[in-house]
Parts: sequence; structure tokens; C-alpha cells
Amino acid sequence: MIDRGIILAGGNGTRLSPLTKVTNKQLLPLYDKPIIYYPLSILMLAGIKKILIITKPDETSIYKKLLGDGRRFGINLTYKEQNKPEGLPQAFLIGKNFIKKNGVALILGDNFFYGQGLALRLRQSLKKNRGSTIFLYPVKNPTQYGVVELDKTNKIKKISEKPKKTKSNLAITGLYLFNSKVVKLSEKLRPSKRNELEITDLIKSYKRKNSLIVEQIGRGGSWLDTGTAKDLFDASLFVSTIEKRQGLKIACLEEIAFRNKWIKKSSIIKSIKFYGNCDYSNYLKKLI
Ligand code: DAU
Repeated sequence: MIDRGIILAGGNGTRLSPLTKVTNKQLLPLYDKPIIYYPLSILMLAGIKKILIITKPDETSIYKKLLGDGRRFGINLTYKEQNKPEGLPQAFLIGKNFIKKNGVALILGDNFFYGQGLALRLRQSLKKNRGSTIFLYPVKNPTQYGVVELDKTNKIKKISEKPKKTKSNLAITGLYLFNSKVVKLSEKLRPSKRNELEITDLIKSYKRKNSLIVEQIGRGGSWLDTGTAKDLFDASLFVSTIEKRQGLKIACLEEIAFRNKWIKKSSIIKSIKFYGNCDYSNYLKKLI
């Protein structure tokens, strides 16, 4: 059973420049809350309370100001810095002491997931995982992602990172589950042509050991990109449309914690005071 998770929130976010020259990408708003609230909400919905946030150098203090030690959300947050964005598997080298002898979930700090039944499926996957579990999503532009080719019987034929050509439309999303071997296997990886440690190479080493599970999110769920200004705008529009229609918020961390019975009303009152007068606070007020 995986009980801990890492959010990788480093990187350079250059495609969102000039804003990311002065602030961290994950702190930019996706509609009404910082981007990082969304991946954090996914880990919390999966029942994960021990979370390590990996940031760019010198940015830990900004995250701490916003999220603190996680107490407000009934979780335990710790922080570490990544000096240079040298690849996603670095998360496991930086997080070695956090992982210890446990399995771990990794979610990229800029990934947006939404959909009915997602939380339940994730909880099941955390229990079921033996080696690694990855989550696939059909996209129109697979060559921009890690891609999995499946055969007719849904067996994995090929895994590739940003292939120039591919017959598959199944992208590997930025949510991964790994057993405790992930640290040792990451230590063995060597940088790719683009000079990064590749998560797809790590996944391939699990595939070679026959311990890779692929889950398909399918068209009922949503996995949206926040890579470019247009992506971020579209994702914001998506959240705004659903929140306006339902009167419910996506990725309201206090709400998830409250429904999980991880916090009491007093914590929500603290959050309301902390955020001040805003739409998010008004939503929290209605909640209690
Ligand atoms: O989003 C899913 C895709 O993420 C996967 O399909 C690919 O297989 C995987 O390699 C990765 O692709 P990208 O090359 O698009 O990842 P990117 O460099 O954009 O980084 C994703 C996020 O992780 C971004 O918020 C920055 C952060 N990051 C990235 C690297 C390489 C770090 O914090 N540290 C890093 O070293």
C-alpha cells in the first residue's frame, strides 16, 4: 500500500515566460487557485497524507508561505530543492530519505486531472501496485509526450519518449506509482540525448521485469496540459465552466480534507482568515 507522494514542482516553465521569470509556474493561477492545488488535491483524494514537494532552489519559502507544513489540510508537507531540472527521476534521488523502504506516488506539479471515479480508482491502484503503475490518456498530439503502444490484446508493445512518429495516441500522464525499488533503479539511469534522466527509461526497467501496470483514464476523465499560455487559459476555462455550473469547487484542499475527516471546522476558519476576502474563502464559509 503506497502511503506517500512526491510533487515535482521544479523545472523552468519557459513556455510560460515572461511570468515564470519572476514566479514559479506551479504558483500561477489555474482559474481561481494556484496550479499546485490541483496535483496536491489528487494525492489527497487518493488518501495520501505524507507529501514531499520538490521545488526550484530558493523557492521553498514561497510554497511554505502558501501551504505551510500542511496542517491546515490535515496532511504532512515537507520540502526539498532540485538544483537543476535534470529529469523527472531525479525526484527519487532527491526524495531518497523520504521514500525510505516504501512505495511512492509521483505527480508533476503542473498536471491537471479531473473525472468521476478517479479518486476511487487511484486508491485501488495504490493498493494493487507491486512494481509500477502508469496512467494513459488519449491525446491528439502524442508526439509531445511519453507514449505507449499497445497490441490488440492490450499488451505493451513499445514505450517511447516524445517519438517523432507513433501509431498510438496514448500519452503517459504525469502521475506514476512505484515500489521501493524506484530509488535504486533511478540511480542506474543515464541522461538521454536531451541530457535528462527520462521517466520513460525508468518505466521501461519495470516493464523488463514484468512489473508494469498500465491503467487507461479513458474519455470519461480529463487530463489537461498547462504547458503554454493557451493550454493554461483553456484549462482555466474548463474549471471555471464546471465550477460555475455546479457551484462546487475543483481542488479545494480544505474541502477534501474536511470530507476525509482529516480536519475540523477550526482549521477551515484558519484558512478563511489566511486567504482573506476572496471567492475561495466565501466557498469555505459556505462549507462550514
Ligand atoms: O506531462 C507528462 C509528460 O511529462 C510525460 O508524458 C513525459 O513522458 C515526461 O517526460 C514529461 O514530459 P515533459 O518533457 O513535457 O516534462 P517537462 O520537462 O515539461 O516537465 C514536466 C513538469 O515537471 C514541469 O512542471 C516541470 C517539472 N520538472 C521537470 C523536470 C525535467 C521538474 O520539476 N524538474 C525536472 O527536472
